[in-house]
Amino acid sequence: MPNITIEPKRLRGIVTPPPDKSISHRAIIIGSLAQGQSRLRNLSFCKDCLCTIEAFRSMGITITKKKGLCYVQGKGLMGLRRPKKGELYLGNSGTSMRLILGILAGQRFSCVLSGDASLSRRPMKRVILPLSLMGIKVAAGGKQGFAPLTIRGGRPSPLRYKTPVASAQVKSAVLLSGLYAEGTTTVREAVKSRDHTERMLKRFGADIFVEGLSVSIKGRGSLVAQEMEVPGDISAASFFLVGACICRNSQVTVQSVGLNPTRIAILGILQKMGARLSWRCGVAQKAGEDSYDEARGEVTAHYSELQAVTIRPEQIPSLIDELPVLMVAATQSEGETVIEGAGELRVKETDRVKSMVSNLARMGADIESKKNDVIIRGPCRLTGSTVDSFNDHRTAMSMAIAGLAARGRTCIKDIDCVNVSFPGFFKELLRLSS
Ligand code: S3P
Repeated sequence: MPNITIEPKRLRGIVTPPPDKSISHRAIIIGSLAQGQSRLRNLSFCKDCLCTIEAFRSMGITITKKKGLCYVQGKGLMGLRRPKKGELYLGNSGTSMRLILGILAGQRFSCVLSGDASLSRRPMKRVILPLSLMGIKVAAGGKQGFAPLTIRGGRPSPLRYKTPVASAQVKSAVLLSGLYAEGTTTVREAVKSRDHTERMLKRFGADIFVEGLSVSIKGRGSLVAQEMEVPGDISAASFFLVGACICRNSQVTVQSVGLNPTRIAILGILQKMGARLSWRCGVAQKAGEDSYDEARGEVTAHYSELQAVTIRPEQIPSLIDELPVLMVAATQSEGETVIEGAGELRVKETDRVKSMVSNLARMGADIESKKNDVIIRGPCRLTGSTVDSFNDHRTAMSMAIAGLAARGRTCIKDIDCVNVSFPGFFKELLRLSS
């Protein structure tokens, strides 16, 4: 697996981030369940989304790509067929596995879901539990419910469910299986997680409504194919935005990026840290809480002298994928940054508390973890070193940003994993830094 060497550089220019991964998964899934042909512009073909595409192809859905458009020939809620050998392989993709479990709950066939070594260590019990309360059986390994999973589809009963973890994947799995239940299924979260599933189901015609932290869906309706454009991925854009904030003489503008209110906490935090950062939504795209449109717009960040902040546990769900690169920003900030209650980071593609603490410490950062809190004292001049991606895309990209701000050369091992969400990442980084 290839390595890369990063040298200290500034970042300057305009970048269009890759299509949003979360929205792309949902567009493929919901498009497959709709009646008719959905036309999806700017869909992500990153490795994770390809797993979802392949899964629906093997369940009989025709998905084609032509001139920048992806066509999904949906067959309705009951139009899927049992995949070959009764198995779906979902690679590294937790979103695919958890959301597809929700769909399979309503099918007339059994299916095995498997994944790579990392996905086979991720907790699935959080989805298996609500599905079992809906009367759907899933067999799994270990206490945490590890893949491979065997799900026997059926007729899920409607459920009122209070999720113990604020996870969009859990919420989405329950809502998707609620599509197949006779009656209304409600999911209530303690803290709001990303709401792409609710917005997209509404767009495709589901009978779904949101009331504060609760989302309810009435099952057994039908979905209608749509035409839509996926915005750029704010999580992918965050690497460049943080890079611009911490590398002297930098200025980066990110265009056509998704600005869904449940995803942009990173922008507010960077501003609170003192970053010179501004953003604006496209005029026709000012999506309110009650609209199904996904807001999008432009964000510009400049090099700034940053201050430490405290991130509270209730802020974690809306920042979850940006925390690794925020730790990099914290090493360059004056004072003590504390990220409280980041336990969910430990169950990502790798334990991201461990991967980031060990990598940044190796570069000389004053960083430690205490249980699920991460404490970083800055500012600190990082020193180039050899660090590990731990085969985790967000760890690899965060360390590349750390490398830009460091003195000397940073070698990142095993960088192929960036293809999971952002295949052109290093090319873009090189373009913006040359
Ligand atoms: C995602 C939800 C989040 C996030 C992941 C994508 C989604 O996971 O970390 O990258 O698309 O629903 P959790 O639901 O586990 O928090």
